[in-house]
Amino acid sequence: MIYGESIRLRRDERSDLPMFVEWLNDPEVLRYLSINNPISQASEEQWFEHMLTLPADEQPYGIELRQPEEKGRRERWKLIGNCGFTNINSHARSAEVGLFIGEKSCWNKGYGTEVMRLLLRCGFETMNLNRIFLRVDENNKGGIRAYEKAGFIHEGRLRQATFQNGEYRDMLLMSVLRSEWNPQIK
Ligand SMILES: CC(C)(COP(=O)(O)OP(=O)(O)OC[C@H]1O[C@@H](n2cnc3c(N)ncnc32)[C@H](O)[C@@H]1OP(=O)(O)O)[C@@H](O)C(=O)NCCC(=O)NCCS
Repeated sequence: MIYGESIRLRRDERSDLPMFVEWLNDPEVLRYLSINNPISQASEEQWFEHMLTLPADEQPYGIELRQPEEKGRRERWKLIGNCGFTNINSHARSAEVGLFIGEKSCWNKGYGTEVMRLLLRCGFETMNLNRIFLRVDENNKGGIRAYEKAGFIHEGRLRQATFQNGEYRDMLLMSVLRSEWNPQIK
């Protein structure tokens, strides 16, 4: 597991799938994700089986939020989203990151930024990557701000690269190089 201050990342479990189905059918969560078709429990199960066959570095992480302590009770964590690495290029030591927080009450509380910082630490210190990049919808102002806070640099614009709700939109390309990364920002 990868531990931050309020967040920990752990492997996805089969029992997470009903939450993923609920979140990934919510139009507000989907607004800036490139998912255009409804998602069923059956298709999530198929995705999960496929995911288990991927190399360990490409298997996603469930995002869990530490719950307030209760006297005499063990530490408790709550699943709020999912994240991980894709498009890993082992020669160039480069990979793409992505995340979603499905629990809408958890937006704009700094958790997206914390998840990105944890993924950067994992990517540079454990996976020995040299470049970590992401693509984000130009209208996803909260996402863009979170990634800037985590240290991502604006790199370019993919013109009309996504189509949703009847319109083409640009995707912004952002990245962090190992030489730019500040490990003090945990
Ligand atoms: C995008 C997402 C990951 C961001 O995570 P988050 O926990 O909400 O982000 P954070 O709280 O760490 O940072 C968001 C920042 O954007 C700011 N923000 C939010 N909406 C904004 C807007 N419309 N304009 C400008 N800034 C905005 C917040 O105030 C905050 O900045 P601050 O800390 O300086 O005040 C999360 O909202 C999410 O998963 N959304 C749904 C799926 C999605 O879009 N995934 C990303 C695909 S690339």
